[in-house]
Amino acid sequence: MLSTCLDLALLCHPVLAFVTMSRPKMQVPGSRLQYFLVSFLSILALRYASSTYFAYPNEIISGVCQTHDQPNPIAALFPNNATGTLNGTVVIIPISLELARSIIPSQYRILEHAYRDLVPSFPEGMYPAVLQALHDHEVQAFGYKIPDFSRAGIEFPFLDLLGDNTTSFKWAPSLLMSAGHEIALKGAMDYGTNVFASVFDPPCDAYQSTPSKDASTAYYSAKSSEVGAASVSTLFSSTQDSPFPLSFFKNFTNQPTFADGKTCDNMIRLYNTSVTTSPNQIETVRGSVKVNIPPFSDEQEWKGVYGLRMDTAFIENNYLPCEDFRGYSGRD
Ligand SMILES: *[C@@H]1O[C@H](CO)[C@@H](O)[C@H](O)[C@H]1NC(C)=O
Ligand SMILES: *[C@@H]1O[C@H](CO)[C@@H](O)[C@H](O)[C@H]1NC(C)=O
Ligand SMILES: *[C@@H]1O[C@H](CO)[C@@H](O)[C@H](O)[C@H]1NC(C)=O
Ligand SMILES: *[C@@H]1O[C@H](CO)[C@@H](O)[C@H](O)[C@H]1NC(C)=O
Ligand SMILES: *[C@@H]1O[C@H](CO)[C@@H](O)[C@H](O)[C@H]1NC(C)=O
Repeated sequence: MLSTCLDLALLCHPVLAFVTMSRPKMQVPGSRLQYFLVSFLSILALRYASSTYFAYPNEIISGVCQTHDQPNPIAALFPNNATGTLNGTVVIIPISLELARSIIPSQYRILEHAYRDLVPSFPEGMYPAVLQALHDHEVQAFGYKIPDFSRAGIEFPFLDLLGDNTTSFKWAPSLLMSAGHEIALKGAMDYGTNVFASVFDPPCDAYQSTPSKDASTAYYSAKSSEVGAASVSTLFSSTQDSPFPLSFFKNFTNQPTFADGKTCDNMIRLYNTSVTTSPNQIETVRGSVKVNIPPFSDEQEWKGVYGLRMDTAFIENNYLPCEDFRGYSGRD
């Protein structure tokens, strides 16, 4: 807990603001900058001293389980940005437009023309909800790394947050996240996300193959620490063809994401780094998803849904005004 407080103090420290946006017009008196630097270095020293006394829950867990995720390949390329890798399964869950309309807040128009432009054959009267079941690995900025964590949630892409009938945003109202990881839990709560501290299986990987089935079949599950509050479980196997092109996945995974709509998260997933390309690969998978998670009012199960199993590097720009993304079309 002490190290978490120190981490937050470090991440929010004014000296980082000077490092990241050294605007020429902003004249900082040398003595004040010196004061900030000294206080920053003191907190940093205290943080390192404290970590030898107060271990993270995650570090205790990683004593018994070791992730199979490969290292963050872009940390050195973007040392002053938050970067990391996301390994896991991204699944398209077609739900009726009627159900979508009833659970998505009415002020956000659904941009049906935007997803039909990308997948003209998307089933009539249906909307693509998305499950992301992921393991965040080697998340870092300024050479400072936080412990890995897991998360899962249902997201709603192609929403018109700004009322321009053009720019697509993704609503991610609820998330199950690794219990005990105060930084990640708080980071999501600050967006207004309904966060459920949860226990994941496997605990420090994106999925795990099932011994009884063929080698390509893998599961992933999460249960909230508060019994019965939320859960996600998935079972997927590799398959040859998918009705959805890779460009569709690239498009919605790179839409700015919001929860309460006060700020937006610009998560840029890169599909061309070494963790995604050969000998690693993007696998097409088909399988089933069972969830108990708001805004769905009761348990939902979907069978025979398609997705991708992959690892990608990412750059994340947090807590930005959503207005900054008017006309933004993401990355391909
Ligand atoms: C993604 O996670 C799976 C399951 O742990 C692992 O087998 C695979 O090697 C990981 N991929 C990368 C690129 O790290
Ligand atoms: C890295 O962070 C800076 C400062 O926040 C931001 O302006 C820049 O766009 C980020 N880089 C990328 C590739 O997102
Ligand atoms: C994502 O899809 C939208 C809507 O179809 C399109 O306008 C935009 O250009 C696409 N973005 C990329 C990077 O392809
Ligand atoms: C939004 O844009 C689409 C595609 O250009 C158009 O068909 C639709 O009528 C527009 N809706 C509104 C409310 O302007
Ligand atoms: C990966 O794609 C980005 C644009 O999305 C580009 O800037 C970068 O050069 C590409 N890297 C490689 C290794 O192709």
